[in-house]
Amino acid sequence: MNEPAKLCVSNQKGGVGKTTVAINVAGALNELGHDVLFVDLDPQGNATEGLGLVEEYEASPPSLFDVLTDADERTAISSLVVEHAEMDVVPSNIDMTAVEPELVLARRGGERLALALEEIEGSYDYVIVDCPPHLGYLADNALYATRNVLIPALAESTSKRALELLFDHVESLERDYEITIRERGVVANRVEETNEAREMMGWFEQAFPDIPVWEIRKRVALQRAFTAGTSVFEFDPDLDMASAFLEIGTELDEQFGRTEVRV
Ligand SMILES: Nc1ncnc2c1ncn2[C@@H]1O[C@H](COP(=O)(O)OP(=O)(O)OP(=O)(O)O)[C@@H](O)[C@H]1O
Ligand SMILES: [Mg+2]
Repeated sequence: MNEPAKLCVSNQKGGVGKTTVAINVAGALNELGHDVLFVDLDPQGNATEGLGLVEEYEASPPSLFDVLTDADERTAISSLVVEHAEMDVVPSNIDMTAVEPELVLARRGGERLALALEEIEGSYDYVIVDCPPHLGYLADNALYATRNVLIPALAESTSKRALELLFDHVESLERDYEITIRERGVVANRVEETNEAREMMGWFEQAFPDIPVWEIRKRVALQRAFTAGTSVFEFDPDLDMASAFLEIGTELDEQFGRTEVRV
């Protein structure tokens, strides 16, 4: 069995669409015939809720918190996996709000997710990790474990600084751990027909000539799908943003050399 392709969805700026993009890219990869594991690494648990698994967020231990902080509980990750119509999910949990200081103190605290995923990732084609909105130990765990990052950003000028900080952080992690982390694409999200958005689309293309810059429009249907506990593919595959996410999935397949497993 091949190693799965692993990808985290990260941007320390809050509310830019990390969770929306993560769920819908995972939905697209499922639509393309892949087995997808979704990991909600955000203590806010938005993806867990957006996949209709809110009771898992409130479940008693062991949770992802124990898996990440207690080496003896690492294998418990397999008991956390929940089946969703489109993907398997490792849900977040209310206890995750206390995980960062524990990881700071832990031995190999930045590698805990990678070690835990080794227990379960073998049966998947893709592992998608949704990150919290800051560059702390959880984001480091996601970047270290996946070595690939997909970056959602709003088409607003404040995104410039956010992306600069993120790229600097990725570079410093690469140096510290002696690893390579690849930026797989920027997803300009919640794009509207405004001058600022048009200008920013131009800026993205210019600033990232070597990686794809995709565009996801502002669509209430994406919020409705979230509320319904699914990606747009399960909600209404005829929506225009479904084809936009399918394009992202198809290009990721090409980048990861996964086109041959499509059914
Ligand atoms: N393309 C879009 N069109 C319309 N609404 C969107 C779109 N993308 C995201 N949203 C909405 O914007 C809000 C923030 O999105 P989301 O939760 O995905 O961002 P986030 O980056 O994960 O946030 P956080 O930083 O808190 O984790 C949500 O209410 C979501 O439904
Ligand atoms: Mg989120």
